[in-house]
Amino acid sequence: MNTFTCIAFGIIVFIVVVKILNVVTKGRCTSKAKLNGKTVLITGASGGIGKETAIDMAARGARVILGCRNLKFAEDTKQEIISKTGNTNIVIYQIDFESLTSVRKFSKLIHENESRLDVLINNAGAMGLGNKITEDGLHIMMQVNHFGPFLLTNLLLDLLKKSAPSRIVTVSSLGHIFSSLDPDNLNKPGLDELNYFNSKLCNILMSNELARKLEGTNVTSNCLHPGIVHTEIMQHLPWYKRLSLSFSYWFFFKNAKEGAETTIHCAVCEKVDGISGKYFQDCKDYWTLPIASNKELSEKVWNKSMELVKLQKNEIHY
Ligand SMILES: *[C@@H]1O[C@H](CO)[C@@H](O)[C@H](O)[C@H]1NC(C)=O
Ligand SMILES: *[C@@H]1O[C@H](CO)[C@@H](O)[C@H](O)[C@H]1NC(C)=O
Ligand SMILES: *[C@@H]1O[C@H](CO)[C@@H](O)[C@H](O)[C@H]1NC(C)=O
Repeated sequence: MNTFTCIAFGIIVFIVVVKILNVVTKGRCTSKAKLNGKTVLITGASGGIGKETAIDMAARGARVILGCRNLKFAEDTKQEIISKTGNTNIVIYQIDFESLTSVRKFSKLIHENESRLDVLINNAGAMGLGNKITEDGLHIMMQVNHFGPFLLTNLLLDLLKKSAPSRIVTVSSLGHIFSSLDPDNLNKPGLDELNYFNSKLCNILMSNELARKLEGTNVTSNCLHPGIVHTEIMQHLPWYKRLSLSFSYWFFFKNAKEGAETTIHCAVCEKVDGISGKYFQDCKDYWTLPIASNKELSEKVWNKSMELVKLQKNEIHY
């Protein structure tokens, strides 16, 4: 064999081994838990991981609330869920995290129409939104990925407590390890990637702080890394970034169904009963950087977020 053949052979063996390892270690939710009589709310449910999660929840018999921005996509998703699972107890409510007014409206409707909430899945998120400032005066990516879900979670806590034991599941990302968050300026503009990583760190900080604040209530809060999944979350990125992301990660990629497994695990698995304040990956409790479990930082970010979303005293339910 000449050198070239050796190298080519080596590369192929490497790719095959990584692929096999990847398939073998991929976490799957093995729980057969049923959700009849329970209500599950999923944000960003009309595509990708959110849709796959919704299909699974519907298959388990839950009333599934799809919190979506685009009603046309949401309606298509609803029909797909009904045809795949036979569960017709699927409802759509509109929510646009770019507007806190929309988040408040959504919560008001949920309170008016729904009698219970057993699982809240903070799944919605976006990349590549730039450094725009929203009508609420907040950084757009931080608002869509953190401030919006933060406000929503707080507004729904009363319903979750009433329905306890209940669970809050927040989809974060391993990308948080690349964050560089300035807790004194959560709206600091920066590179898209950095904004994204910072917002994903905030997801973990929120989830952990929530777990502390909800101790003894039978409402648990956990977050997770879904894996690297190729979904619509990348839709706003320019084509060359999408291509390079796809290319550089392709052998680590999960499809949306596989990407939903850890969310599903956190939402339903009996093994997660009573577990709170953890970060999951591949359906297992996983490590994070010390900064992600820093109590002082999470409290600070929590306090600032409360201020920035203008959470009122009578809206605090922990
Ligand atoms: C919520 O309730 C209002 C008023 O009763 C009704 O018009 C609306 O269709 C309901 N929305 C959903 C999504 O069930
Ligand atoms: C939490 O659940 C336990 C076990 O079901 C129950 O004994 C306890 O009263 C519950 N606590 C609250 C605050 O609901
Ligand atoms: C956050 O706010 C609470 C309640 O106002 C206060 O007790 C706590 O010291 C604050 N924590 C930080 C880190 O600012």
